[in-house]
Amino acid sequence: MEMTDKPEDDLLFPDPAWRQKLRRRILAWYRQHARDLPWRQSLHPYRSWVSEIMLQQTQVATVIDYFNRFMHRFPDVVSLANADQQEVLRYWEGLGYYRRARQLHAAAQIVRDHHGGEFPTDFESVLALPGVGRYTAGAILSISLNQRLPIVEANTNRLFARLLLHEQDVMASHSQKRFWAFAEWILPRKHISDFNQALMEVGALICTPQNPNCSACPLKSICPTREHECWQQIPKPKKKITYQDLSEVAIVLRNPETRAVLIRRCEAGERWEGLWDFPRFECHLKDPHQPSLSELSRMDSELSALTNCSAHKLHWITQIRHGVTRYRIALNCFEAEVTKLSQKNHSNQQWVQPDELSEIPLSVTGRKLARKLTVMQ
Ligand code: ADE
Repeated sequence: MEMTDKPEDDLLFPDPAWRQKLRRRILAWYRQHARDLPWRQSLHPYRSWVSEIMLQQTQVATVIDYFNRFMHRFPDVVSLANADQQEVLRYWEGLGYYRRARQLHAAAQIVRDHHGGEFPTDFESVLALPGVGRYTAGAILSISLNQRLPIVEANTNRLFARLLLHEQDVMASHSQKRFWAFAEWILPRKHISDFNQALMEVGALICTPQNPNCSACPLKSICPTREHECWQQIPKPKKKITYQDLSEVAIVLRNPETRAVLIRRCEAGERWEGLWDFPRFECHLKDPHQPSLSELSRMDSELSALTNCSAHKLHWITQIRHGVTRYRIALNCFEAEVTKLSQKNHSNQQWVQPDELSEIPLSVTGRKLARKLTVMQ
């Protein structure tokens, strides 16, 4: 493959004839193979925005049900803006990265208050919304309105690296500069929505990280990585994540008179910021079924530091294992009776009946534990 120096001297792209093949083939392939995803039906900037935010760091298969439920409850940007943040978080529960939901809600309020309730359609205004970067703004406006804007995201990083035989780390700033310029250079004049989605679709379905399906690829005859059979080296393999094991304890603290349980809202800097959870803390136990006296007293003082309450009759109910980012958590869950109620009024903690937990946004492990409680009752 000959590389030319256009359009920027040091970026090296193939020639215009190669580009023309890429455009034609990928569009023809997309028209036959595009998945029927809910946000592809009735294209609209609001729907496109919500889907793109959900799709950041989350797989398509997981997003589908969340997207449908979200659209049913918040069919337009004003209904989202007017909702309570807790309810938005409840609809997000389980998707992870909850900052996305808080920013989505804040952005909806900006649209309601500063754009007359209509999702903006100019790039600068979209880019100025919380949680929206260059990729997301470009994706929303190109997909829903056919605006001629390039996109670069995880799937296209991999596809572009292979189409350009780009051996360096794809996230390095010179790589990103090259990919954005390439994404702009390959953009056709028309059919931008299909074209950009086609790039992501080929990246997701064909040009996969492991064992790409090159024989089914519409770009196989113009791909130098296929020619050199070097997909294992391109993109450059990432460093392996080193997982860290964590032992934690959660306590279902009951008021024996009312049967209510105590939950607290995770604060800024905590893992589940903004969501509710049973009081929990890091704590290694030798034998969780039979904590020693010193372990019991440590749990009591941790609980008291967190909630200002004390407990007795602690007994183990279950262990939940959960992986989040680079942590592998073993969470030992106990039930206990409160002996000393907090005298202070905490805005970030509340006593609720177990059947009310279904209305409240909980951490993933908090939800598992809440389900366990309803089964036990
Ligand atoms: N990943 C990110 N955005 C996407 C989209 N619009 N369609 C499919 N996969 C995606």
